Amino acid sequence: MTSRRPTIGVFDSGFGGLTVLKALLEVIPEADYLYFGDTARLPYGSKSVQTVARYAVEAAHFLEAHRAELIVIACNTATALALNQITGAAHVPVIGVVEPGAEAAASVSKTRKVVVIGTEATVCSHAYQKALEAKGLHAREKACPLLVPLVEEGWVNHAVTEQVARIYLEEAFADGFRDADTLVLGCTHYPLLKPMLRRVSPAHVSIVDSAESTARAVAERLGNLVPRVASEERRAKARVGFFVTDSVEKFQRLGQTFLRRPLANVQHVDLKE
Ligand code: DGL
Repeated sequence: MTSRRPTIGVFDSGFGGLTVLKALLEVIPEADYLYFGDTARLPYGSKSVQTVARYAVEAAHFLEAHRAELIVIACNTATALALNQITGAAHVPVIGVVEPGAEAAASVSKTRKVVVIGTEATVCSHAYQKALEAKGLHAREKACPLLVPLVEEGWVNHAVTEQVARIYLEEAFADGFRDADTLVLGCTHYPLLKPMLRRVSPAHVSIVDSAESTARAVAERLGNLVPRVASEERRAKARVGFFVTDSVEKFQRLGQTFLRRPLANVQHVDLKE
């Protein structure tokens, strides 16, 4: 990495990675960003390791070809299933969301028992469990497959979503995990549900958002490469280009909910398989 103003590539299966981009823009606004959302092929959360790895490696190559100097795998599913393949195929540093999330959980949990929620594929990979166990924590992983479509429907404050989340979390914080004191949001969409998840989690539970932990990990990785300037100036400087594999219009419409600001500079791309 040579430039003082790095270009950071952010990859996700679609819209959800915008929660990671939002955190990155808050922590490192003085970088340039390229966001690749594979909206034509989402969701990844119900796909096989082979398929997700192939898609993710293609996306990483695309970002590298567009001069990304570091790639953030914002998608929990892609990180959980294919981080090693992506890292092996890329020529630039790659940071996923699982390790930063696990690290944040390890620093927060006192009972050393953690619940992780994510997609079916993330949970089946046990990537979070392995990362947490390596730090001496016990983890229960709970797949919450209904939450992604509910968020994409815009039902972030809906009673149905709250009921669904309540059922998932009651099942997760049961039996041997009643004393778990940390909930890791292991999916890009869940930060949008944070206030609701707070309400339906046991009162003693702390919530770890892997989007925020990842942004801090990227900042640490960049270290002194990023110039330190005053906060107003920093915010004005962030430049973002978006590439999506499906409708630009839909990405702009839905993406605003995730990024909490209008999305300009969005291009459609076709990845040749
Ligand atoms: N981005 C995915 C994740 O964080 C959720 C959406 C999908 O299944 O593609 O796991």
